[in-house]
Amino acid sequence: MLNVAVMGYGVVGSGVCEVIRTNAKSLSEKLGDRVEVKYVLDIKQVDPADPEASKITSDFEQILNDPEVMVVAEVMGGATFAYDYTKKLLLAGKHVVTSNKELVATKGTELLKIAKDHNVNYLFEASVGGGIPIIRPLYSCLAANEITRITGILNGTTNYILTKMFREGADFATALKEAQEKGYAERNPSADVDGIDACRKIAILASLVFGKEVECDKIKTVGITGITESDVAYAEAMDSVIKLIGQAELKDGKVYVSVEPRVIKKGTPLASIDDVFNGIMVNGNAIGEVVFYGPGAGKLPTASAVVADIIDCLRNDRNREYCWTPAENGFVADSENNFGQYLLITKDPASVEQKLTIRERITVTDGECAFVTEEITEKQLQTISNSILKYIKLC
Ligand code: HSE
Repeated sequence: MLNVAVMGYGVVGSGVCEVIRTNAKSLSEKLGDRVEVKYVLDIKQVDPADPEASKITSDFEQILNDPEVMVVAEVMGGATFAYDYTKKLLLAGKHVVTSNKELVATKGTELLKIAKDHNVNYLFEASVGGGIPIIRPLYSCLAANEITRITGILNGTTNYILTKMFREGADFATALKEAQEKGYAERNPSADVDGIDACRKIAILASLVFGKEVECDKIKTVGITGITESDVAYAEAMDSVIKLIGQAELKDGKVYVSVEPRVIKKGTPLASIDDVFNGIMVNGNAIGEVVFYGPGAGKLPTASAVVADIIDCLRNDRNREYCWTPAENGFVADSENNFGQYLLITKDPASVEQKLTIRERITVTDGECAFVTEEITEKQLQTISNSILKYIKLC
């Protein structure tokens, strides 16, 4: 019997138990032994009819001190109890797998070092892209490359909301409520709509591929709450959509990292990724461009990635050595100095045209004018902020 424990019996935790139950036979065949969830850690009351009811415990020490438990899935979220428990488990020589992007993004450097020192795994495939395989492909399959850029739709909830706004003209609040009902949204949906979740995910990806910790507070992060019907109309007029994009780009030894809504031309790979789906485009100097696509949130897709990590630990009882070095001053550049084109909205077109080189004039409504700029930095745009109502970067 291969005993595992699951910490957190919410959407993802119940999904992990369900996948292990449903696929018990094929898992046994793959591993040569039966996988059994021995404990489920949660403080809430569980329906006695729940298939895992007999395994529920609120006593973490039971898991920590049980030598039969080899792998623990931390799917409780947050960076307080989850941090304390993960650290203790790794120090005790147990493998930990997680979907907890907050913990990986903020404490990953330390936890990976502890895992390495104790010859156990700390795996986090489910922390980015839900069910999409991305961590292992980036670290292993693309290892031959120098990765130059990662560009991704990394948050399912906001992609669901923006898709509804574009396709159906839905209002923001209704679309968010639907995403919550479907189990996509974070407990505090501000983490989704304010871009915090996507920020954690791009921080993890950037740290992994560039080998140095990229701290979340160094990442320019803008959410989607400011996207209006008129932004949607301007994007439509450009034959484009708006997506929340996380991007990390290596230039001259520095990384430019940002999370912000971006205007994307229809027909390009990320523009057609809708609903809860995520898409991650990776540029490397040998592969060229590769796109990973799939369900970015939800119970079973996320559980699929968590259980894959459990299987990996049970198959390879050794250190996988995902790692990056601690943050270095100056490694993360100010993304406002990175060049790009912008959709710019103004009530004072004459002044803007006098100060900037304009590539395209989009449309005029209610005295507003929308332009597409030439390549420019955000810092340069800010110098004429008095003449601008709003700007959104193109992708
Ligand atoms: N709230 C997250 C999202 C869950 O919507 O993408 C998956 O990380």
